[in-house]
Amino acid sequence: MSRDGKVELIKERADIVTIAERYIKLKQSGRNFMGLCPFHNEKTPSFNVSPDLQIFKCFGCGKSGDVITFVQEIEKLDFREALEKLAKETGIQLDDNEDKDPNLPLYTLNNLASEIFNRLLKVNDEALKYLTERGITENDIDKFKIGFAPGNNIVLNKAREKFKLPNSTLVKSGLFVERNGALRDKFINRIMFPVTSSTGKIIAFTGRVLPGNDYGPKYLHTPETPIFHKSNNVYGLYNAKQAIRKEDLCIVCEGTTDVIAAHRVGISNIVAPLGTSITEGQLALMGQFSRNILFIFDSDLAGQRALERAFLISEKLNLSSYAINTTPFKDIDELVHNNSAELERKIKEEKIDAYTYLLSSYMQTLDLSRMDDKMKLKRYIKSLLDGVSDKTRLQFYIERTRNITGRLNSSNEKLDSPSIYSTPQISNRKLSFEELYLKALLSEDSITFNIEHSLEYFRDPDIIEIISIIKENSPIVTKWLHKKLNEQQKVTIENLILQKTIVSYEDSTDIYNRVREAYLKEKISEIGARLAIAENIKDNDEIDKLFKEKNDLMTKLRSLRK
Ligand code: CTP
Ligand code: MN
Repeated sequence: MSRDGKVELIKERADIVTIAERYIKLKQSGRNFMGLCPFHNEKTPSFNVSPDLQIFKCFGCGKSGDVITFVQEIEKLDFREALEKLAKETGIQLDDNEDKDPNLPLYTLNNLASEIFNRLLKVNDEALKYLTERGITENDIDKFKIGFAPGNNIVLNKAREKFKLPNSTLVKSGLFVERNGALRDKFINRIMFPVTSSTGKIIAFTGRVLPGNDYGPKYLHTPETPIFHKSNNVYGLYNAKQAIRKEDLCIVCEGTTDVIAAHRVGISNIVAPLGTSITEGQLALMGQFSRNILFIFDSDLAGQRALERAFLISEKLNLSSYAINTTPFKDIDELVHNNSAELERKIKEEKIDAYTYLLSSYMQTLDLSRMDDKMKLKRYIKSLLDGVSDKTRLQFYIERTRNITGRLNSSNEKLDSPSIYSTPQISNRKLSFEELYLKALLSEDSITFNIEHSLEYFRDPDIIEIISIIKENSPIVTKWLHKKLNEQQKVTIENLILQKTIVSYEDSTDIYNRVREAYLKEKISEIGARLAIAENIKDNDEIDKLFKEKNDLMTKLRSLRK
């Protein structure tokens, strides 16, 4: 069987409602099942599953898809992994020789290097002594697979010995550099920290110099490779993801050693970027695990700038951002060293939303009795709030602004009418009568068209076409209909089916009459306009004709209302 065929078969066998119910409580609502969305925080259910179409959609966060997407999202797997999981459950054999990952050699090389580094660390007294002095334990070394790279081409030689790989592949891995036509190990005399993907595959390394080695920067990273993009990955996510979901909070700190130090004191929902400021790709990745992000940056000006950036990106991605700092210590590593309970206490007691944090810190640099400082503050507030599109959060920030800047009462009333509101969820808007009519037809197991109804009163071309298909083929089932439609029409009925309103087939005649009523009213007003023109040019024949038409329509309209 072809791979596509297998995917289809798996989707047929793995019922989305059954699978979703392993993770969330679902309640039947009409033909659908509804529950609290597992992908974002909510108190009223907007997560909707259609057993007919075997799809889900959340009207709160917008996530949608089929059973494979669902497993991917909820288990944080990639497509292949989710497919494998479902294949196992449904007893379908996936052939492993098909579509092999062309980057496999790169993972293999990283695994080999990591094993070598880890083994060499354990016999290197100087490196071990350095780590011990920094408070890094044996347990940390195992958990994070920390290693040591001496750099005497030990990885290169081993790789050549074990695998027959062309130089081009070796270079692609980022583990080696080319000098005067020859390859050599890139990392020399460094403590090595493997960087993993969210599923635990080693995709890169970050290497810290040992004291006394002045060659190169303090931290050296694997360059961009086909499996490693610095701006889309963070350090520590694999070790953190369980805890991030459990705590529903992802902590972002500045450095690799801070992540490890936090784990040591029981805080494991923590990651760090790799030597750059935080990017949108990185935050989007974290956002898959929790919508709440706590930033722990330096309390200096650079840290403040970094937090402003992080706040604005978070808003763009609709994530809730929070902040604390490590004062009086330089970073988490030093804080933890000094007091092992302090990090947890700070997170519990000092965590505030990033907006309030930024605004309060900024105000400390100002003298608000001065006019120009007042103006500066207004500009600052605007620069932050302009990036906020979520209405609820915006209201919250405005409230905070009033509290914090109490003294500025009279000058910030402009903030009451924010210009930016989130766009309403199209899928949750009120349905038109034509849409509602179609939804009523779709509410039956076996979909039929009432031959007493006429399509002449419908105006939406997509709806007309879909109902025509029903009319010509009834009785049919949703799935069959779905297959017959073009992409746009598919989306139309997916949204209709998942939309919250509940209607039944019995309502269809009432709704049909509302469709007719809307149609007649519009026709009547059209004739009104044409009458005005005819009267203007005194076209008496036309006036008579239009009057007659109008009267007919009025009679029909009145008969509807009886
Ligand atoms: N960094 C980097 N290149 C450097 C210095 C730092 O890429 N030359 C990155 C590293 O990812 C590091 C983070 O920035 O983890 C934080 O830098 P810094 O505060 O200087 O380092 P620490 O984490 O405090 O490093 P250490 O405690 O090992 O000195
Ligand atoms: Mn440090």
